Amino acid sequence: MQNFTYQNPTKLIFGKGQLDQLQEEVPKYGKKVLVVYGGGSIKRNGLYDNVMDILKNIGAEVFELSGVEPNPRVTTARKGIEICKSEGIEFILAVGGGSTIDCTKAIAAGAKTDADIWDVVTKKAFAADALPFGTVLTLAATGSEMNAGSVITNWETNEKHGWGSPATFPKFSILDPVNTFTVPRDQTIYGIVDMMSHALEHYFHHETNTLLQDRMVEGILNTVIETAPKLLDDLESYEHRATILYNGTMALNGMVNMGYRGDWATHNLEHAVSAVHDIPHGGGLAILFPHWMEYTIDENVGRFKQLAERVFDINPDGKSDREVGLEGIKKLREFWNSIGAPSRLADYDITEATVEEMADKTVVANPQFGNFKKLNKEDSIAIYRASL
Ligand code: NZQ
Ligand code: ZN
Repeated sequence: MQNFTYQNPTKLIFGKGQLDQLQEEVPKYGKKVLVVYGGGSIKRNGLYDNVMDILKNIGAEVFELSGVEPNPRVTTARKGIEICKSEGIEFILAVGGGSTIDCTKAIAAGAKTDADIWDVVTKKAFAADALPFGTVLTLAATGSEMNAGSVITNWETNEKHGWGSPATFPKFSILDPVNTFTVPRDQTIYGIVDMMSHALEHYFHHETNTLLQDRMVEGILNTVIETAPKLLDDLESYEHRATILYNGTMALNGMVNMGYRGDWATHNLEHAVSAVHDIPHGGGLAILFPHWMEYTIDENVGRFKQLAERVFDINPDGKSDREVGLEGIKKLREFWNSIGAPSRLADYDITEATVEEMADKTVVANPQFGNFKKLNKEDSIAIYRASL
């Protein structure tokens, strides 16, 4: 375990009816509020009206930015930044999933700098400051509600990059499982794959003495594997929605990965696929992760063996460590297939034609990526080809 300092300033407000807490939280930051949301799900399920009623009751002056896309675009963030600057916005409220929250982070940072927000995303400029913002989460997946990360897409250059700053933690996040009842089946599945992938990204490292961290990450995986099929049988189960929602937050709020760095190559590979083909993040991860695992297993077979035994109940008797590890990967793939996640890039009509282009995108920021095993463009091509 390496030295570490951990600080997470986001106030997490979890449970049924917690939306009312907006009354206490928003006035702490100002009266001029920009509400950011996506393509309309919050209007259809009534959350928009509930949020607006509360903001009206506390006398907020409300501005709106709607239409944040899944895989949010830098052009949309720029629109929000313009509103913040011209209207003197004091606080931003994101109401939606990871895309809405990520876009809000870009708006919050962009409102406080003269640099173009794409320069911040691509790390040519640094966002030292940001407008305060809070979130009302509607989809369990990314963990963006309790981390400082944001992932933004540029359709002019077909690039999708993650960035973040200590200034881009939400001030608070309200997580009412009821607000996730209307998440459609496919998005529920993508969210499940995404949070499991965050756990898996953490899991593959070469650090020693991470006993508690390993158990916490395995705990997330075990809990999601146990709960996901039950939730998919009953999408309006408060109990199962709550379990999945809490897991999504815990998988990427820094709590389970103190003292070591996970891999994150598969996320880079997936972001490149989304940047070229605009597919759902969780769908891409379900396809790519098992292939990344097969490609890198020899870096540290012991990690794969441990995962296979502790999470997928593989019996190691009479088998080599590598065989046990490979059985674990097979079980992971079978689990994702069993809940309805895609398994081949062809499921999104992605063919050999764009493999080279996607591989180029994986090395735009750095010629090598991934911490568990360093990968280059040729490795990306090999993993994409295996995934076709
Ligand atoms: O736009 P609306 O109409 O709201 O519909 C959304 C969208 O179509 C819908 N949805 C959300 N909540 C709903 C709902 N529909 C009905 N009822 C509800 N309660 O679901 C669709 C997908 O929403 P989106 O926000 O795109 O999904 P998600 O939360 O999975 O976010 C994905 C984005 O987050 C990035 C991904 O790359 C992708 O761009 N990530 C962000 C991370 C972070 N900030 O830490 C880490 C992740 O690894 C990930 O890369
Ligand atoms: Zn993810």
